[in-house]
Formats: sequence, C-alpha cells, structure tokens
Amino acid sequence: MSKKFYIATDHAGYALKAYVKDFVTELGHKIVDLGPDSADRVDYPDFAKKCADAVLADEGSFGILICGTGIGISMAANKVPGIRAALCHDHYTAKVTRQHNDANILCFGERVVGKGVIEDMIEAFATTEFEGGRHAERVSKIEDCIVGADLK
Ligand code: RB5
Repeated sequence: MSKKFYIATDHAGYALKAYVKDFVTELGHKIVDLGPDSADRVDYPDFAKKCADAVLADEGSFGILICGTGIGISMAANKVPGIRAALCHDHYTAKVTRQHNDANILCFGERVVGKGVIEDMIEAFATTEFEGGRHAERVSKIEDCIVGADLK
C-alpha cells in the first residue's frame, strides 16, 4: 500500500536526501521534502521538529530523518510527544521497530550506513505493520515516561 513520507536532514545527511527521495518515489510512495535546501550548516533539532510536527499532523504518515550518525536527529524527534523515532542500522531493526514499537519516523546516519542498507531499511519500514497486542501496552507506556510520574 502506498504511504506518505516526510523527509528532513541536517547538513551531514543532506547528500543522501535526493537519493532517498528518488528511492521512496520509485517504490510508489509519496515523499515531501522539509529541507534543508542546501548543504550549509544547520542544527539537526530544527529539522527533527519540522518532520515530527508534519508526521503528527498527517495521520498515517511516516518520517525519515538523516544526520551524520542518526543519533542527534532521533534524540530531538523523540522529545515530541507522539513521535517514536527509531535509529536503525539494518533491515532487522527497521522491520522490528515497526512490529514492536510502532515507530513513525525512521532515522539513520549518512556516515554510518550505505545505500544498499538504506534501501532495505526503507522497504522494511514501509511494508511492516505494527503487531499491537502486548506491544501496544508497552508503546502506550512510552508516552507515560514523564519525569516524576509512576508507571503502572
Ligand atoms: C554534524 O556534524 C553531526 O554532529 C550531526 O549530523 C549528527 O551526527 C549528530 O548527532
């Protein structure tokens, strides 16, 4: 089934953006580019937030975030309630984060993974459904992880 993706990067993920957009489009999905528009230095939290807001505002959509390592941009996105940004490294992590975590943003590092692995991760992320059940309870507890609150 065709999905809608939002993509954003920082300068260290910028070089891969065009390639990823083409690949997602070739798979038959829609992709919206939220920037940046050049490889000039930018701060990854700004673009993580843009993508997180877009995904939350568009039910059923997914995000793709790329920085040098994938770490900073995923940390920032995960500060937005309702976002489950998964830093993935291979087909397995991209598949299982959909099945178990209902991840809505796929993150990776341009300096870490190659194009073959990226293609594998995007295909897995786009085609794998959340399993629900026991995982749904755990996923809802993620939102309850608030400083000072007790988890049930
Ligand atoms: C930018 O140099 C780099 O720090 C950033 O892309 C990312 O890897 C941070 O986690």
